[in-house]
Amino acid sequence: MTDAEFDTWLRTESACVEQALHTWVPADAPARLGEAMRYGVLDGGKRVRPLLVLAAALAARPLDASAREAALRAASAVELIHAYSLVHDDMPCMDNDVLRRGKPTVHVQFGEAQAMLAGDAMQALAFEVLTPDGSSPRVVPGAQPMHPALQARLCSLLARSAGQAGMAGGQAIDLASVGHPLDEAALRDMHRRKTGALLKASVLMGAACGDISAPALDGLAAYGEAIGLAFQVIDDVLDVTQASDTLGKTAGKDVDHNKPTYVSVLGLDQAVRHARLLRDRAQDALAGTGLAHTERLRRLADRIVDRDS
Ligand code: IPE
Ligand code: IPE
Ligand code: MG
Ligand code: MG
Ligand code: MG
Repeated sequence: MTDAEFDTWLRTESACVEQALHTWVPADAPARLGEAMRYGVLDGGKRVRPLLVLAAALAARPLDASAREAALRAASAVELIHAYSLVHDDMPCMDNDVLRRGKPTVHVQFGEAQAMLAGDAMQALAFEVLTPDGSSPRVVPGAQPMHPALQARLCSLLARSAGQAGMAGGQAIDLASVGHPLDEAALRDMHRRKTGALLKASVLMGAACGDISAPALDGLAAYGEAIGLAFQVIDDVLDVTQASDTLGKTAGKDVDHNKPTYVSVLGLDQAVRHARLLRDRAQDALAGTGLAHTERLRRLADRIVDRDS
């Protein structure tokens, strides 16, 4: 796969995810709730988690229509959880941010109560998307209904990565750590939960859709673990190295809010080196899976570490 072919794959798949989200996020939820949900999740973001789902799903073999539908549902569900976490992360009671994905944040645009509800509803919708009933439109023609065991596996992976042991727990540590210096082990634990868990779950959900099982699954889990932590290390780096208009969100917030980050604990150069080390660890784990089509995952790991937004 050449660079150009990979870029085409990224563009094409991002468009498919966008189309799936358009289909599944309702515009007609009551009292402008649908408008707030669609504002929060459509038409923005790098879509890293959905792309990890789709790349992992393809790591063993091409997908048939049913597996492709399942992978697009998993990709959309993960993005809904992520977008909900951003809506709440930006609220005044958390990071109090006014800019996200190059637009005013959801609470600035729709009010705090509506932002809270939009996040709540996006979280619930993620699990609705993973458990389609007869009324849920398919986005892949010819797809068969999702097997109940696959629905259960995807819900389990997503719930565990989003809840107290994952994202929500990590966010609680994040807020409790303001102004408290953390050592590297405590910081790693926080980052693994608040960001790493959902990225790792993305890889494992993709693997479930692609019907990949042990021992390759262990290698994919190790890849997801390493790349998940690397993602937040680079997020910490970009907060100090990039401008708000490049990021599409307010730069320099971590220092302003006295948050412990990989930059505050290790320094900028060491933080970048650490992210590259994690990337190498991810690539080694991937190579060890013996799977035939890991090229996309390998390139995604490179992009996660070498990015400017
Ligand atoms: C930002 O995530 C929040 C973190 C978990 C670090 P992304 O950098 O993936 O944000 P979008 O989805 O591209 O907007
Ligand atoms: C957010 O971390 C992690 C989430 C679970 C949303 P940050 O607070 O660093 O994310 P940004 O920098 O606002 O995107
Ligand atoms: Mg935060
Ligand atoms: Mg934030
Ligand atoms: Mg950040």
